[in-house]
Amino acid sequence: MCGIVGYIGKSHCKDLVLGGMQRLEYRGYDSAGFVFVNEKAACLSYLKRTGTVANLAKELSVFDEDGFSGIGHTRWATHGVVNEANAHPHFNCKGNIALVHNGIIEEHESLRNELIAQGHKFLSKTDSEVLVHYFSSLFDIYKSVKKATIELVKKIKGAYSIVVLIEELPDQLLVIRHNSPLVLGRQKKGFFVASDVIAFSDKVDEFAFMPEDSIAVINKNSIQLLDFSGKSLLPVWQESNLAFVDVSKDGFEHFMLKEIYEQKKVIDKIVNFYRLVGTDSKLSASDDLGNALKYQLDIEYQDRIWQQLGLSLKTVKNLKKINLIAAGTSWHACKIGQFFFESISNIQTSVYLASEFCYMPFFKEKDSIFIFLSQSGETADTLQALRLVKSHNVPTVVITNVPSSTMVQESSGFLPMQAGPEISVASTKAFSAQQSILFILANRIALELEKITLQEMKSAEEDLFMVSQVLEMAIENYKWEISNGLAEKYSAYDKYIFLGRHISYPMAMEAALKLKEISYIFAQSYPAGELKHGPIALIDETTPVVLFSALDEIIYKKLLSNAQEVKARSGHLVVFAFEGQNELIGLADYAFVLPKVNPLLAPLACTGVMQFFVYEITKRLGRPIDKPRNLAKSVTVE
Ligand code: G6P
Repeated sequence: MCGIVGYIGKSHCKDLVLGGMQRLEYRGYDSAGFVFVNEKAACLSYLKRTGTVANLAKELSVFDEDGFSGIGHTRWATHGVVNEANAHPHFNCKGNIALVHNGIIEEHESLRNELIAQGHKFLSKTDSEVLVHYFSSLFDIYKSVKKATIELVKKIKGAYSIVVLIEELPDQLLVIRHNSPLVLGRQKKGFFVASDVIAFSDKVDEFAFMPEDSIAVINKNSIQLLDFSGKSLLPVWQESNLAFVDVSKDGFEHFMLKEIYEQKKVIDKIVNFYRLVGTDSKLSASDDLGNALKYQLDIEYQDRIWQQLGLSLKTVKNLKKINLIAAGTSWHACKIGQFFFESISNIQTSVYLASEFCYMPFFKEKDSIFIFLSQSGETADTLQALRLVKSHNVPTVVITNVPSSTMVQESSGFLPMQAGPEISVASTKAFSAQQSILFILANRIALELEKITLQEMKSAEEDLFMVSQVLEMAIENYKWEISNGLAEKYSAYDKYIFLGRHISYPMAMEAALKLKEISYIFAQSYPAGELKHGPIALIDETTPVVLFSALDEIIYKKLLSNAQEVKARSGHLVVFAFEGQNELIGLADYAFVLPKVNPLLAPLACTGVMQFFVYEITKRLGRPIDKPRNLAKSVTVE
């Protein structure tokens, strides 16, 4: 998983490619490389460096040579450690063919051995390097780029988007796509190719997604698109009105902090975007008539939502089963969403981890739908799961923050998350947005099935507005204490246990994930009821136990018992509780206490202050908060 950018045309390529690479750093940032056909020397020139694109750009800025065709790559290591040799581009033995790759080549070892036996010398430990050596040997045989490429794709397995620059063909870029996204862009002066349209969205007049299993041969004036058998394809050009929003930190120290603070606005925007058409004044002006009139408007609106989701009204009315699939933080949002669909819409719901789903037997169920949640819309595991479900002719619905993403292109319908660009690798506002949309969707389905009234739908929307205020207020209430002592104290522990039950368990999982991914502190989450079945052996005063309370009375009582079990063993207890939960608050060594909300929205209420707490702990440890080690924002390998 990595970011690729290429340019060929009448303009100098260095700044165009580097600019695009910077925008694609969310796909990986452990090393970066750039190669171009040097206009002065008429040969390939390149530079690779570990670290960020800015690092590479700084060195390239003193290098005054440039060219009219070049490719760049920002890496997230899969095969081979992070070093310059493993950074892309990779070269053939003669050094006159350069290649960048995103994806994973399966069984690359056997191909590497074959090539070594033929005399090829490898300089890296990557799977990608086999591609350039193999392509080079095919090009030597066939003397034709197209023929060599068709033979190459017959042999290689896995996922790949590839861009190749050949010294003896300086006016040409070769591009190949299989199971890994690539998009083409064109402007008057030349052509772009990239892993994501944002790399060049404001620089082109039109863009076209490369079809799955396609090859593009790009010259300065034209693009030839082919399928893997060499048959011509027509690119589907779309006008590019996607201005690139250069997101800044707006004075915040980190994007993560800015995004934590954006959550109230995001939730409010989602409710306003998805809320029912009509005004409350109609309801109060003339109740009966108002209600009747409004309901007609709502039916139209409801239809529109189902159309957008690619679902017929009949499908919604007959729904018997909802399946939610995602990865990482999005999966935690799905685990919370399960409670919404089961208790509000009264529909049985299953949640699957995308990375596991494809390797389990698929049971086609009548009247079921699959909803895929993904901030980026590119996560390879989730995309593979979507493709598998689609192959069984079952409706696939995507909820994503990126309308131009591959998942949107391949699904039957989608709902936009409306969270705005999320830059920090650790997901914050996307998590809140996902919870909010799933809550609205569960209510909408319930309304369609007449499980709730229009009035109940309206109050669900009001509940979300209220929670957005609680989320922000909780940060404000605890900001001072967290920043003045609490974060310092809790940054000294080197392991944590997070507990939750029922709807608060996914919240505990998300909190543990947040802490480990940005602070590198070991954190383990458990359903609180499981404590006694083993993890209780870990309880001592050196391991804080962070417990997320719930507002359901029965669940609260059970959680209280679990908290007592921790205290009885001299555990250090931190709780996220709600007003009135005095017994639990009394047991805790430290308690964050929030106003009561709709019980199903309790996790959303705690989200902001939990993230802020983790953020401040991490700051004390001096970690690179927005770009934690070993991670990437968009994980496009399985
Ligand atoms: C990566 C990110 C996580 C994210 C997960 C799923 O692992 O680091 O923050 O939750 O991918 O991403 P998605 O874009 O599918 O929501």
